[in-house]
Amino acid sequence: MDDEASSFGRELLAGLARRPRSISPKFFYDVAGSRLFDAICELPEYYPTRTELSILAERAGEIAQQIGPHAEIIEFGAGSLHKVRFLLDALKAPRRFVPIDISGEHLAQAAQALRADYPGLDVQPLVADYTKPFSLPREAEGSGPRVGFFPGSTLGNFSPDEALAFLQGAARALRGGGLLIGVDLVKDPAMLHAAYNDARGVTARFNLNLLVRANAELGADFDLAGFSHSAFYNAPHQRIEMHLVSRAAQTVNLLGQSLHFAEAEAIHTEYSHKFTVEGLRTLAARAGFGIGPVWTDRERLFSVHWLPAAQ
Ligand code: AVJ
Repeated sequence: MDDEASSFGRELLAGLARRPRSISPKFFYDVAGSRLFDAICELPEYYPTRTELSILAERAGEIAQQIGPHAEIIEFGAGSLHKVRFLLDALKAPRRFVPIDISGEHLAQAAQALRADYPGLDVQPLVADYTKPFSLPREAEGSGPRVGFFPGSTLGNFSPDEALAFLQGAARALRGGGLLIGVDLVKDPAMLHAAYNDARGVTARFNLNLLVRANAELGADFDLAGFSHSAFYNAPHQRIEMHLVSRAAQTVNLLGQSLHFAEAEAIHTEYSHKFTVEGLRTLAARAGFGIGPVWTDRERLFSVHWLPAAQ
C-alpha cells in the first residue's frame, strides 16, 4: 500500500469505528472521483461552479485591483485549475502560482496545462493535505503579496470549528496579502436539494465512489448495490449533508476487520455548509481577517469575498 492508500485506510477504519460512522470528503478526489466532480460541475442542477465562474469572469478586474501586482497565488484544493485562469488573466505580472491538492496525479496534469498557457508564470504544485498543518515554499525574491485562493465553497466541507481553524491558519500564512474565497449562499432549500440529487445520478456515483475506491485500493468488499446515496438540506445547520445508507443488514470486510452495518445505518460522507454574506464575514473577522469587498451574482446564489490579512 502506498502512502496515499495507507492514510485513506487508516482514516477510513477510524471513521467507520466512530458513531455515527463517517468518511472525510477529502477522499472523494481520486482520479475517478475528480472526473465525477468535473461532471457534477456541468450538471444543470449544480449551479455553484458556473455561478462562481461568472462572478470571477465579470469581476476579475476589480479583484485584481484589490490584490495588486506581482502576487504569489496559493490555491487550496486546486482540482482542475480552471478558475484561477480568470485571476491570472486579470492580475498584473503574477509572480508564482502554488496549487495545493491532496490528489497528486490530477494536480500534475493540470499544472502542466497551465504552464503551457502561462509561459512566464512559475507554477509549483504542492501535493499536501491543507486540512493539516503544512509548510509553504519560501517567498520568491521580490514577490508581491501572498494571496490565498480558495474557490468552490470548499470551506463548506469543514465543520464550523475546522473552518475557523483553517481561516486562522490562512490569516497567519497570508499576512500582508489576503484570501480570495468563494462560498455558496443559503437559498431556497428545493434548489439546494436538487443540486445534490441530480436527475442523472452523477452525485450518487460521486458519493458511492468512496466505496469503489476502498474496494480498489484497500481490497475491501463493499457491495455497491448495498448502499444508497442520501443528500438533504439541514436548515438549522445551514448545510447539505451527504450520507451512504446501508440498504440492509450486512457485513463488510476491510483491512482484516469485519464491520457490521445495520439496516438503514448511515455513513456520513460530506457537509456542504451554506453561508450568509454576514455569517462568512463574522467568521473571517474572528479568524483575524479584515473585511473587504464581496461580489455576488444577480440572484445572490454564490459569493466571492476579498479578505485582507493585516501585516
Ligand atoms: C467541492 C465541496 C464545494 O460541497 O458542493 C458536489 C462537492 N459534493 N456535490 C460541494 C460536492 C456533492 C462540493 N465542493
